[in-house]
Amino acid sequence: MDIEHVRSRFIKHFDGTTGAVYASPGRINLIGEHTDYNGGFVFPGAIDKGMIAEIKPNGTDIVKAYSIDLKDYVEFGLKEEDAPRASWARYIFGVCREMIKRGVDVKGFNTAFSGDVPLGAGMSSSAALESTYAYALNDLFGDNKIDKFELAKVGQATEHNYCGVNCGIMDQFASVFGKQGSLIRLDCRSLEYQYFPFDPKGYRLVLVDSVVKHELASSAYNKRRQSCEAAVAAIQKKHPHVEFLRDCTMEMLEESKAEISEEDFMRAEYVIEEIQRVLDVCDALEKGDYETVGQKMYETHHGMSKLYEVSCEELDFLNDLAFDCGVTGSRVMGGGFGGCTINLVKEELYDTFIQNAKDKFKEKFGRSPKVYDVVISDGARRLV
Ligand code: GLA
Repeated sequence: MDIEHVRSRFIKHFDGTTGAVYASPGRINLIGEHTDYNGGFVFPGAIDKGMIAEIKPNGTDIVKAYSIDLKDYVEFGLKEEDAPRASWARYIFGVCREMIKRGVDVKGFNTAFSGDVPLGAGMSSSAALESTYAYALNDLFGDNKIDKFELAKVGQATEHNYCGVNCGIMDQFASVFGKQGSLIRLDCRSLEYQYFPFDPKGYRLVLVDSVVKHELASSAYNKRRQSCEAAVAAIQKKHPHVEFLRDCTMEMLEESKAEISEEDFMRAEYVIEEIQRVLDVCDALEKGDYETVGQKMYETHHGMSKLYEVSCEELDFLNDLAFDCGVTGSRVMGGGFGGCTINLVKEELYDTFIQNAKDKFKEKFGRSPKVYDVVISDGARRLV
């Protein structure tokens, strides 16, 4: 992330003056996918890639926003009916609206932003953008009266109300609460969280990006969520206290099998198992048992591929390849339908694995995957 780059464009694009500069990261998730909107656990961490935005109030009611990377400029007002068409600008507009709904007196501003989280790679570039602006507007117009959890919820509500994705809280939470060197286990029902220092001696975490974009996957994502809700509704008939799949066991799911479609049953089975895997991984980590951590990652991949059906040919290929190379753990990361695998690799195997992944993927799909080393970093903040 390069402040100077953003600053020089901001100065050039607007009136030559400077503003305040904010940054928020993307995230990785060690384990716990599609568990957040089921009231379960997730285990993300913020990364050293994210968004940077320079912002300066402009004394009007108009937001003037410049996307440095897309070289696109959009102006919009702050009323509900002023929603811009450009999808990148809708994130900023949505954050403005959600802050206004929470009583922040947002006024017009000039802004330019840029990022280095690859778009559509499952590393939450959109949450990084939302958190940057939520944090900034709270600082510039809200006397920082909105707390950090609510800032994460502002990003989530932006996705729900302005971008058509009924996402959970994980990405925005990780982007706001990230801490250098630590993963965070979040209980998405109680919102209790705990930092786990993560420095696996002798291992590296690396992302291998299939470069299959998952941008058009929002309807499939929303459909997964509906399946989970349908399973809960069926189970509730016998167990009225059940609120989320988090509250269900496999026995309860089996009991209601006749009332749940085959597809919804598979989705629910994956979620119930995945919630337990997060807890198992946390226990294993505390014991320094990386073999178990890795095994659980493979189990997650299998579940995401065969039960939740959010993998794709390229990601399954990368997962098999990791297994064949002897990589400790590997799985599709994030919502799925494209993006990256996250891999826990022994130091001594790293070079062979990466070389193999590049060569064999290229041989099969005619293009090279991208590789990102993971550095676990801090969350949303003001830089200047
Ligand atoms: C996306 C969503 C998150 C979460 C993951 C899957 O990243 O934004 O809320 O559901 O998918 O774990």
